[in-house]
Amino acid sequence: MSIIKFIQKFKKSNRTLFTTPSHGQGDFVAPDCSKMLGRRFYTCDYSEIEGFDNLAKPTGIIKITQDEAAKVYGAKNTFFLTNGSTSGIIAAMLTVLNKNDKVLIARNCHKSVYNGLVLTGAVPIWVMPHYNRDWGIYEPVNYDYIEETLQRNRDIKLFIMTNPTYEGLMTDVYRVSHICKKYGVKLLVDEAHGALWTFHKALGTPSLIQGADIVVQSLHKTAGALNPSALLHLSKETDIDASKVQKSLNLITTTSPSYPLLINIEGTINYLNSEKGKEKLSDLVKHVNRLIRTLKSIPNLEVYSYNNDVTKLLVKVTNMSGFELSDILFEKYNIEDELANEKSVLLLMGLGTTKAKLKKIEKALTEICLNNIKITYEDNSNVPVFNPVEPRVRYIPSLVWNQPYKEVELKYALARVSMELIMDYPPGIPILIPGEVIKKEHIAYLSGRQKIKVLA
Ligand SMILES: Cc1ncc(COP(=O)(O)O)c(C=O)c1O
Repeated sequence: MSIIKFIQKFKKSNRTLFTTPSHGQGDFVAPDCSKMLGRRFYTCDYSEIEGFDNLAKPTGIIKITQDEAAKVYGAKNTFFLTNGSTSGIIAAMLTVLNKNDKVLIARNCHKSVYNGLVLTGAVPIWVMPHYNRDWGIYEPVNYDYIEETLQRNRDIKLFIMTNPTYEGLMTDVYRVSHICKKYGVKLLVDEAHGALWTFHKALGTPSLIQGADIVVQSLHKTAGALNPSALLHLSKETDIDASKVQKSLNLITTTSPSYPLLINIEGTINYLNSEKGKEKLSDLVKHVNRLIRTLKSIPNLEVYSYNNDVTKLLVKVTNMSGFELSDILFEKYNIEDELANEKSVLLLMGLGTTKAKLKKIEKALTEICLNNIKITYEDNSNVPVFNPVEPRVRYIPSLVWNQPYKEVELKYALARVSMELIMDYPPGIPILIPGEVIKKEHIAYLSGRQKIKVLA
């Protein structure tokens, strides 16, 4: 029986519980919590009591539900994550990498990859994706560059890449996996932003069926689930042992996983895989495509459309920075975007994007462009922009984790070893990592601050 069916049945059993969680499935709910969340939410929150299962060692309802999910995704194993893709990425790294193992990483990775480097003690070899200055975004890594790096470093164990990128740009994972197989390298794809791909062909091709060994997806980003529900899939072809993945997950996961989140994961997958879900997704794609067509006809407005997922709408306005466009949307229209950069603005078009929301953004962008709307109260012209540079690793992240540091004035930081993890969030892509040498580009980017922590 699946998690949802079991809990529905269990609720009728009237068993008296002297167990955690202590709210007694809603017998006590603090008034503010009740007002905000409703008592019903609590009635689904259980521990590993008799008949329930254990996320750390599933043999019953969780195993059955995870196995059903694996069938939906075409995976050998699927693991439900109640601590986001962050936990999946770290666990995947702990599964494949030992201390001092080399790992190839595309630099447009999420900060959780840094966390994994600290915990594994692995040695990062970075590959820089091309940075598209017209849009202020990273593009996928060049395939030849990946191959050349693997050729030069025959002892690399794992390649970690992000697909799609935060802005929805896609890589030919089939081609990358082919290269990785040639050099005996495992492939971990952070597909946090591609959780809808299994359910609609026009969005993107899931990395799992393109030859990746491990794929991690956030269900909360585009697929309409609660924060931070996510999935880790093992491919049918990989020789990575599922019990090792479980062991790694158990190292970093709470012993009290949330049943409401597990229900949310199962319910979301059930819906996405249903006829209704597929129809809803098709409608969403249709409506967003219609919006894109309209936006493309507006003078001075550009929509990024080159091999990207339409649920990530990237727009820019002539002679206006992304920061300024973002400010106008926020201040004049009460619209908040997912992120802005020096050139463009990203609007997330996930499952909860209603027709009314699409109309609102269409009207706002049309007005901004046709009426040449500007705002004067925020001057973004001096916002520093990072000029991506090849990182220089002096010490690997795990080595400097607990090392003493001191703060120095930024002007004296050139060539020192950073002890700070610096990035913008979102997208959470590291600009400078502890153990890396501070370059002039970092100093220029950080010019708004006085000091930086460096290795003592
Ligand atoms: C590319 C990428 N990977 C992983 C993550 C982490 O996902 P989660 O929030 O599910 O832990 C994020 C979050 O922003 C992300 O953008």
